[in-house]
Amino acid sequence: MSAQGKQKRLTTASIRSMKGGERIVCLTAYTTPIARLLDPHCDLLLVGDSVGMVLYGMDTTVGVTLDMMIAHGRAVMRGTSHACVIVDLPFGSYQESKEQAFRNAVRIMQDTGCDGIKLEGGEEMAETIAFLTSRGVPVFGHVGLMPQLVNTAGGFRSLGHSEQEAGKIRRDAAAVADAGAFAIVVEGTVEPLARELSASLSVPTIGIGASPACDGQVLVSDDMLGLFNDFKPRFVKRFAELSPLVSQAVESYADEVRAGRFPGPEHTFQVRK
Ligand code: KIV
Repeated sequence: MSAQGKQKRLTTASIRSMKGGERIVCLTAYTTPIARLLDPHCDLLLVGDSVGMVLYGMDTTVGVTLDMMIAHGRAVMRGTSHACVIVDLPFGSYQESKEQAFRNAVRIMQDTGCDGIKLEGGEEMAETIAFLTSRGVPVFGHVGLMPQLVNTAGGFRSLGHSEQEAGKIRRDAAAVADAGAFAIVVEGTVEPLARELSASLSVPTIGIGASPACDGQVLVSDDMLGLFNDFKPRFVKRFAELSPLVSQAVESYADEVRAGRFPGPEHTFQVRK
């Protein structure tokens, strides 16, 4: 499916049907103006809880709230008409029970108008995913490296190196797919395992740090645009370096204001004659 000739917003069912076909293009989005720029080129836009680190300067995603996700979900929906939009359920908003997950997923879908939700977790979340999907909530799964578990997993590192780790991710991905997820993010996972999951699962795998073997790719948009510089994971490619452009523009503005060159006559209102 190319960026041209698309009229209607893609659905989770159309993303699901792209399994084994053209690779699925996904990026994160958090604001209306950036969503407008990404929308024509992407099949899937994720309002990720990475918003906490990228826009709010948090060290992890653990502090992100449901209200933050709803505000950013609404902003992204206002800026899009083509891509399927999924909003993350943040930490603490779904792990307690399947009923809590359903209540908060419905709130996100009703308040934002998005197409579905994403949640992190494998075997332990399968019952919740089945509960949601059988009641009308499309679920985007997320296995492998799960940033919301940073405090129990002991940090961010690639996974699947040992047979024990690989076996756990294999079971997680199968459980999430069997529970009815329409697609699954596979994060920070070694290539042979990502390849095996992509071949064995009936739903698309969307990789981030999980090799080209996946059915699609996702990156944090501020990472690939060179706007987030706190750290750069190995799997990030910078497709642009926007930070120096912003710095140069602000430096020029500051120089012109201090020198009295801005605003010029063309930016100044005179009394109409
Ligand atoms: O929160 C997020 O942005 C994500 C992606 C990195 C997959 O979960």
